[in-house]
Amino acid sequence: MITLGIETSCDETALCIIETEHENHNNSSAENSGIGAFPTLKYRILANIIHSQIDLHREFGGVFPMLAKREHIKNLPILYKKLLEDSGIAEKEIGQIAVTHGPGLEPALWTGIVFAKELGLKLALPVIPVNHMEGHIVASLFDMVEVSKEFKKIKHPDFPAIAVLISGGHTEIVAVEGIGKYKILGSTLDDAIGEAFDKVARMMNLPYPGGPEISKFAEMARIEHLAKTISLPRPMIHSKDLNFSFSGLKTAVLYLLKEKQGDSVAEISDILKKEIAREFEDSVTEVLISKTRLALLENEAHSLIVGGGVIANRHIREAFIRLAKDAGIPLYLPASGLSGDNALMIALAGILSCISGTIKPSEEGFIAKGNLSL
Ligand code: KG4
Ligand code: ZN
Repeated sequence: MITLGIETSCDETALCIIETEHENHNNSSAENSGIGAFPTLKYRILANIIHSQIDLHREFGGVFPMLAKREHIKNLPILYKKLLEDSGIAEKEIGQIAVTHGPGLEPALWTGIVFAKELGLKLALPVIPVNHMEGHIVASLFDMVEVSKEFKKIKHPDFPAIAVLISGGHTEIVAVEGIGKYKILGSTLDDAIGEAFDKVARMMNLPYPGGPEISKFAEMARIEHLAKTISLPRPMIHSKDLNFSFSGLKTAVLYLLKEKQGDSVAEISDILKKEIAREFEDSVTEVLISKTRLALLENEAHSLIVGGGVIANRHIREAFIRLAKDAGIPLYLPASGLSGDNALMIALAGILSCISGTIKPSEEGFIAKGNLSL
């Protein structure tokens, strides 16, 4: 089966074409059959495009929804044509379309949905509505993300698993029993973790998106073994639940900057930027790891999955690697290029959901849902 994946929930216009082969198991165990069962699936990527609009949004200090919509509308047909050329397949070989229908920016989501539905109508193809966060959960199940003639196996995590989703819009700890079987155990009470990275970066006059910038400065502080002269809170680290709060941490950075700089934030020294970046990164990492450890214990998890743009952060990544090692369970992390928004994770979530019966494809009848939850 050849699937076209489409992702337009934020500021990336992403498209892919992936071919999958599903092995039917007649002798599957009770645990591994029925709705939500994890299928044995082989895949090869025929084409994959991620077109970032970040340079256009940077001057607004964040993603501007109507600009994102305009750019998606402009770029989708151009990128789709290129995708077909890259893939070497004819349009009529596509068997189904998977598209993000939420959560995200509604004007942006609609562009992908309308494009998918029109194409579905033209080619008489089913269209699968995909939850973007489910995409982030399955992104780590790809072994290889290069275009290839060779088929590879989709990784099969042991359930129950704990999935930690850390992105620009979400911070969630999710119990995963199988495809489509999700229970949110904890989430942020205010800002998402990526949003906190972006806001703290903005306070220090660093460009959008702030995550990679903070990451860079923190890394310099670590390499230079910069002395530790500041400290920030670890919000809710002892709260005994699995919720997060990052807005107080952001305010703590603001007060610290005021104390050190008065109102002249324009002249923050590189040393202070490095120190704040490292301390901020340490704070969010400690909180994330402590909550995840608790979730793993309380749920007797057999594996740990981490997804979302923030897992591109090297320090956080290494902390999760150590945690999984200590807990003695396998860790699933997205390959480079698959932590941020992409169409491969959307296609895979759609394919897995259809095979396991948790989503029914439909040519029409679904809409963009900005606040869609798992
Ligand atoms: O998953 P994603 O691409 O989009 C959403 O669905 O939100 O995540 C984007 C977020 C942004 O807040 C960005 O600053 C953050 O991921 N991010 C990082 C890093 N790279 C991207 N945060 C920390 N360290 C990074 N290296
Ligand atoms: Zn995302």
